[in-house]
Amino acid sequence: MQSLTFSNMSKAFGGVPALADVTLNLSSGRVHALMGENGAGKSTLIKLIAGVLKPDSISVSKNGSPLPLNDARDAHEAGFRFIHQELLIVPQVSVAENILLSRDLPHRFGFAVNWNKVQAIAEEALAFLGATHIDVTLPAGDLPAGDKMMMKIAAALVSADQNEPVLYVLDEPTAALTVEESEMLFDVIERLKAKGTAILYVSHRIDEILRICDDVTVLRDGEFVTTNEISKTSKADIIEAMTGRDFKDAYPKREISIGTETIVRLKNVDTTNLHDLSFEIRAGEILGVSGLAEAGQTQLLKLFMGVGKIKSGTASFIDEELPGSPSDAWARRVAYIPRERRGEALCLDMSVRANIVLPHLSDYGFYAKPWLENKDAHKFGAKVRLKSNDVSQPVGQLSGGNQQKIVFARAIQGNPKLLLLDEPTRGVDIGAKYDIYLLVRELSARGCSVILTSTDLPEVLGMCDRVLVMHEGRQAHLLERGEMESADLLSHFYNGHQAS
Ligand SMILES: Nc1ncnc2c1ncn2[C@@H]1O[C@H](COP(=O)(O)OP(=O)(O)OP(=O)(O)O)[C@@H](O)[C@H]1O
Ligand SMILES: [Mg+2]
Repeated sequence: MQSLTFSNMSKAFGGVPALADVTLNLSSGRVHALMGENGAGKSTLIKLIAGVLKPDSISVSKNGSPLPLNDARDAHEAGFRFIHQELLIVPQVSVAENILLSRDLPHRFGFAVNWNKVQAIAEEALAFLGATHIDVTLPAGDLPAGDKMMMKIAAALVSADQNEPVLYVLDEPTAALTVEESEMLFDVIERLKAKGTAILYVSHRIDEILRICDDVTVLRDGEFVTTNEISKTSKADIIEAMTGRDFKDAYPKREISIGTETIVRLKNVDTTNLHDLSFEIRAGEILGVSGLAEAGQTQLLKLFMGVGKIKSGTASFIDEELPGSPSDAWARRVAYIPRERRGEALCLDMSVRANIVLPHLSDYGFYAKPWLENKDAHKFGAKVRLKSNDVSQPVGQLSGGNQQKIVFARAIQGNPKLLLLDEPTRGVDIGAKYDIYLLVRELSARGCSVILTSTDLPEVLGMCDRVLVMHEGRQAHLLERGEMESADLLSHFYNGHQAS
């Protein structure tokens, strides 16, 4: 068995330590989980190993002998392969070129690029993942989120044949994947493991960690807390190590009954992409929307943002037509938390304060009132337990989960009537998840209706009053509380409409 040791890893940003003297031991053929709350330093550690961030200190050794690691090239030479948290893709060029990005393209006669070969290599890598449905000639930007992740994983696999990979590092790969795609990924991880590569794996989904990992290291506030074999620890121990608190229940209970007023009414609605929508939502009710990849969940949410045209049937929101545009939706107190927060929801080089208060500027009157903006940014940041140095820090510098919290803080500031949540806790740590669930419960108790879609099935079951199952753009089932069992839900996803 080969061993890799990364010791003495430290990194501070502007004097604030993000990682302090952390050591990590990895072994070939084992999957090692790296866990910790948002901002604990996981991605920073990974960027040090990848040579893309300059460390304050680091020493690396392989089987006891020192290994040079000064830049990304050294990491690559050493056989380290990375799938980072932020998907860096070139959207305008083809999937095939994105997959072969990090290696020299094959040439014909020594000069012309052999495009047939480029495509064949890309297709082979995707086939290894079981993702043969992806068209490698499409521009990468056109792919849905899950397929983009599959493409990045394929790219990490392809660069492998230049020199033997020793270590794969995956930073929250399943956050952007559906249930089905995650299963395909776990299968790939098993195969890589069997080949004898070491794997470092970051995820906030603890059940997933318990299932696929052999060892776990926990960080808290940039410091090492513990390393353990998974078989010798428990879910409760890991959560305690991460947060210093224990969580008896993963989801806060519904304590207040749902209101009587009907907020949303849809009857036999068809749009260009959605069909057979018939449901009502009462004030304070939380409706889950679930299904396989791209079954229409996001489009259904966006319908209430004025995106998508109703072709037949009737639909109303508080006794009027559905909002006709996103600005109309905002004005009628519909709040939306999109799936792709970096692309759709945040201005990364603007401050935490600006990102929280921006859409609410008109509430402050004609003149700028920086003291009020500061106060609100602090207040709503605290509600989601935002971890940032200061409200003037650019959002792009925050950890992934903290960026998601900003989007949430902004949405709740408007005191919404209808809250649309598309994968609301993706990349959010367990403690902050609980805080977000509490906020959703609090809003619902005040009469705000919620539509929530998530690939995290326990979340749908734990939070929602009813679940609407979509199948290829169609409403397939509407499950009442008593019918919501996790296994059932999955079988409904696959069976689609014929089972009803
Ligand atoms: N470029 C940067 N400038 C300033 N601070 C930074 C920068 N990059 C990261 N940080 C800070 O370092 C800390 C650790 O961030 P990191 O991204 O490693 O967290 P993480 O454990 O990956 O969290 P998450 O689970 O949310 O992804 C955070 O407090 C973050 O704000
Ligand atoms: Mg991270």
